[in-house]
Amino acid sequence: MKIGIRLSLLSALIATALTASPLGELGARRPPNILVILADDLGIGDVGCYGNDTIRTPNIDRLAAEGVKLTHHLAAAPMCTPSRAAMMTSRYPARYGLVPNERLETVVIPHISSRVALPLDEVTLATALRAANYTTALVGKWHLGMYCNLFGESCPGPLKHGFDTFYGIPVTLFMEFRGPHPFWVFDLEKPGFQRLAFTWLLSVVSLAFAKKKLKWSLFTLVFLLLLTHAILFVFWFFTAHVGLDKGSLWGVSNWLHRAANSRIFRQDKVVESPIELDGLSQRLAAESRKVLADFAKDDKPFFLFHSLAHVHTPMFNAPNRERASKHGRYGDNIEEMDESIGTVLDSLKEFGLEDNTLVYFTSDQGGHLEAIDDDGQRIGGHNGLFKGGKAQGGPEGGIRVAGIYRWPGHLPGGAVVDTPTSLMDLMPTFLDLAGLPPLGELVPSAANKDLDGQSIADLLMNGDRSPPQERIMIHHCRQAIRALRLVRGDHIYKMHLAKVKWFEGSTQCGWGHTTGCFCYGDKFHLDISHAPELYDLAVDPYEDKPIDPETKEYKEIVDFLRMYLKNWQGSVHYPDPPMSNMADVMWRPHHQPMCWHC
Ligand SMILES: *[C@@H]1O[C@H](CO)[C@@H](O)[C@H](O)[C@H]1NC(C)=O
Ligand SMILES: *[C@@H]1O[C@H](CO)[C@@H](O)[C@H](O)[C@H]1NC(C)=O
Repeated sequence: MKIGIRLSLLSALIATALTASPLGELGARRPPNILVILADDLGIGDVGCYGNDTIRTPNIDRLAAEGVKLTHHLAAAPMCTPSRAAMMTSRYPARYGLVPNERLETVVIPHISSRVALPLDEVTLATALRAANYTTALVGKWHLGMYCNLFGESCPGPLKHGFDTFYGIPVTLFMEFRGPHPFWVFDLEKPGFQRLAFTWLLSVVSLAFAKKKLKWSLFTLVFLLLLTHAILFVFWFFTAHVGLDKGSLWGVSNWLHRAANSRIFRQDKVVESPIELDGLSQRLAAESRKVLADFAKDDKPFFLFHSLAHVHTPMFNAPNRERASKHGRYGDNIEEMDESIGTVLDSLKEFGLEDNTLVYFTSDQGGHLEAIDDDGQRIGGHNGLFKGGKAQGGPEGGIRVAGIYRWPGHLPGGAVVDTPTSLMDLMPTFLDLAGLPPLGELVPSAANKDLDGQSIADLLMNGDRSPPQERIMIHHCRQAIRALRLVRGDHIYKMHLAKVKWFEGSTQCGWGHTTGCFCYGDKFHLDISHAPELYDLAVDPYEDKPIDPETKEYKEIVDFLRMYLKNWQGSVHYPDPPMSNMADVMWRPHHQPMCWHC
């Protein structure tokens, strides 16, 4: 106990000494290492230190006990690709179009070979930190586009956005990766296959007939038969495996989806295909441990982005982790995820890096409420009492996520901050805490870019004792604006402009692993019939009691936010999204990387 007190006193003293040192000295001191751990689709209600008392997440809980826990932490989108893009760039993804438009059903980058990616003139945290002489590494999921060359000969992906090294998953995990799926498909009930069968018959008969009439040699006949079959095979392949009618959202059959995308990359090359799911979590953690061991030998500061495969569907575990939790397969996945976080955090300690490493943990979005496995078991997250979930646009459950910052001796331990913060605050906050120059100075090409995130370094160091600065956050669905949040004095207003129509008696839309209350298009439950709904989350966190539209407060806030919105839309240009072109999003065989060494 005494030692503990002495240690924390000592670290407080060091912290004061460091913060008090003049700027010149700050520049000379080695900036902290940075470790970002990002969970996938983790619900805020799935974590012990956020109030779940039946699930075991001791490692995340320890991080919170030693750091600052953010209770009002928000993702910029309830969907992987745009949320991750926003986190990495500190900018709304609508600003650079890494969101589909209304016409497209595909909501994320579906294929390694898709020609959509985070634009190269966007500056990521990795690019910024590399400019500040950090060594940078990504282990795990990327999902911001792979930029494959012709024939997939190289797919540099994250290496184009500031990472020195990459080991991991180029897109995301998809249910189809579980496999195996049938390759030989020939369904004579479908017109495509009927045409194919007819063409085959016709070709064989005409070749046989032509041989007789034209007196071809046997060699000519065999050659022409082989050629015909090769051509027909290609037609068959496309009929069987490519197209929007193949039973999956991704424009390809389940077989092709797994064959083309279930891959692990090292740098710009495929090293594993298909992905061996069982034990993947442990392998990623082991990779990060190796990376940290290398970093420890170097005297440059480092940035490691450990982007977890869990707890996205499909569910998988190392064999010994099965049925370990009280919450079925999903709970097992949570606990395995926590264990792998433990491995990475323990490696920091093992290599003597813990004290000078700033750790940040969060999730790209809230839990997927609709997700169920083939046997009907729920395999989606739990968003506590917040309404709604993944894919829904404005509803809180899809964007309110866990968020923890830890930096021993510099940030208080066991602190809680209730002021609204964003995943987009990451880059400005890190640069600030690390004593680095602002983004525009580090990367001159970023100087003219407006950031939507802001430094919360002060909040992390001093807590939210003093009233927060006024702040407005916009909640998009693709490029449409669905809700606005206003932090003003003691109030946290949230105005919904349009809301998803939930299924009766729930805050979700049915069941299925690609089902969701998608927040766009007429067939997706969009209810825009009402006047804006306004809540004050400071007193009504779960949005149960909308503020009466007849009150002065309602009129004042709604008018203010509407005016803000009008100005925003008049001054901020959202380009036509690259993801709106189906030909770019689709599987592109001529950009498909192969696995030559698997
Ligand atoms: C804890 O998480 C599990 C898994 O998502 C969920 O089923 C359960 O309801 C949660 N418990 C609480 C108290 O939030
Ligand atoms: C990075 O290193 C270069 C060369 O040593 C140096 O000139 C530059 O100031 C460093 N940048 C930062 C932000 O420390």
